[in-house]
Amino acid sequence: MQNHAGQILDGNLSTSIELAVDNLRNDLLIGLPTETVYGLAALASHPKAIAKIFEVKARPTNHPLILHIADYQQLEKWAKNIPQYARNICEHFWPGPLTVILMRSKNVCDEITGKRETVAIRIPNHKVALSLLNSLNDGLVAPSANRFGKVSPTCAKHVVDDLGDDVSLVLDGGICEIGVESTIIDCTSNSPQILRSGGISKSDLEEIGKIEIAQSDGDSRAPGMLEKHYAPICRVELLDSLQQAMHRLNEISAQGLAVEILDFNDDLEMYAKQLYARLRLADDRQIHTVLAVMPSSGGLGDAIRDRLIKACAANYG
Ligand code: TXA
Ligand code: MG
Repeated sequence: MQNHAGQILDGNLSTSIELAVDNLRNDLLIGLPTETVYGLAALASHPKAIAKIFEVKARPTNHPLILHIADYQQLEKWAKNIPQYARNICEHFWPGPLTVILMRSKNVCDEITGKRETVAIRIPNHKVALSLLNSLNDGLVAPSANRFGKVSPTCAKHVVDDLGDDVSLVLDGGICEIGVESTIIDCTSNSPQILRSGGISKSDLEEIGKIEIAQSDGDSRAPGMLEKHYAPICRVELLDSLQQAMHRLNEISAQGLAVEILDFNDDLEMYAKQLYARLRLADDRQIHTVLAVMPSSGGLGDAIRDRLIKACAANYG
């Protein structure tokens, strides 16, 4: 087998997909583009490779992984006792930025779930990811392809910047269309809960699933949703308006510190798409403080606010 460690390959080429399949079958980890963020992928039926994911990411083993599958029909292979409302939302929103927590079937190994009886599943809406998944007779487990606690990668270069040779190759699928991680909804009971806000809003899920959903921000959040989870090196300060941000900009730059404003004029899609790349860029440029103007809540705004609050909490961690 050729050694492509840390190399970025064009994910649209069939030769790249073939090499990725080959590497995965040899227990190597690959960088996988999705519409949300890039993942660090291993085959779902290869526990040794899955254990490597935790090692490379320095991720505690009790933070379970998301299983990515190729199509809705495969759901039955990996999950059981699936409520009707969960079927409805999956059928409607997949492929897409929706992860459902369901009771796991016997095909799911302990390494994926940290021995939980539940499993997180989604179908990514990305041509390259789907083409790879369709070339496998298996699922792919993939957390975001960053070191534990850092912001997620939204382009192939971010993955190599973070993981270097720990990833055998990265399939380049361009810049992630959405830019923040999937919405996670716990569907293991008849009172579903959102464990992480993401690309799909609570109100859309309620409408399609004909259900009422609780937003969880207590202990029942997705394990791994720590307060200081999405942490750039720079300080992140949260402001309610551009005016306030301008005021702080003057104060901080008067101290001789490098400071910049993050504001997208309430263009939520653009904000989500650029958020992580802008935080990474601020670190590359050794910016001391990023002044983030909070977007309004609702829809993608909830996901962006959630990630910004965590990035800000890291200042004090
Ligand atoms: O958009 C995404 O979801 C990306 C792309 C690559 O698909 N993946 C992602 O994975 O964000 P990760 O590992 O960074 O976040 C997965 C989250 C974690 O907070 C984990 O605790 C939660 O999913 N999770 C996984 N399995 C779970 C389970 N059985 N019960 C509750 N939460 C679970
Ligand atoms: Mg992550």
